[in-house]
Amino acid sequence: MKNILAPSILSADFKVLGDQICRTEQSGARYIHFDVMDGIFVPSISFGMPVLSSIKGLTEQVLDVHLMVTEPVRYVEEFAKCGADIITVHLEACEDLSATIDAIHRCGAKAGVSVKPKTPVEELAPYLDQAEMFLVMSVEPGFGGQEFIPESLERIRSLRSMLDERGLEKDIEVDGGIYHSNVAEVLRAGANVIVSGSGVYKGNIEDNTQRFMEILKSYE
Ligand code: DX5
Ligand code: ZN
Repeated sequence: MKNILAPSILSADFKVLGDQICRTEQSGARYIHFDVMDGIFVPSISFGMPVLSSIKGLTEQVLDVHLMVTEPVRYVEEFAKCGADIITVHLEACEDLSATIDAIHRCGAKAGVSVKPKTPVEELAPYLDQAEMFLVMSVEPGFGGQEFIPESLERIRSLRSMLDERGLEKDIEVDGGIYHSNVAEVLRAGANVIVSGSGVYKGNIEDNTQRFMEILKSYE
């Protein structure tokens, strides 16, 4: 399975956002992870549609939009119009998750479903066929720069087994507290889409990205 790096722009320097995104692409990152926070589902507020529209088309990278938003079905169409290629919603935030996934598909985007650290991954079982990607949060959503929760590894392993048992080869994304030092464990547990904010954008972006890519490639 292809391993993909998804740098989270939450940790970028917004004065020079476009430039920093291009540097991740030139160093091998295939996705841009775009964290939307509404101040209700999570305590903080980040950014939304106008920022997404303005980076759309800047690079060839896939726009991977992570909606930490209550009842995200309200915004799916707009985010798709602004350029989202993948729209991930939280299982905990949707009244009707299946209808929300359908709405994402109707807009032509791929659908991801995310679970917070305390939500059992077994709750994803009814949606394994329907969605394209599953996002296991390895920190409580809401802020960058938090520490990886070690129990996440077991959760990734369980989810990968659930998919394997059904013969489904789908993406497992992991988000929060991932650095060069622990990414190998996350890949070995069965994840293949790696989000990193601080690990990419703090320090030298080219070096950080290239080192991640070397490790990701060595586990393909
Ligand atoms: C947290 C966000 C993450 C965050 C990750 O709620 O969903 O994408 O930016 O940041 P790091 O890699 O710094 O933990
Ligand atoms: Zn995220």
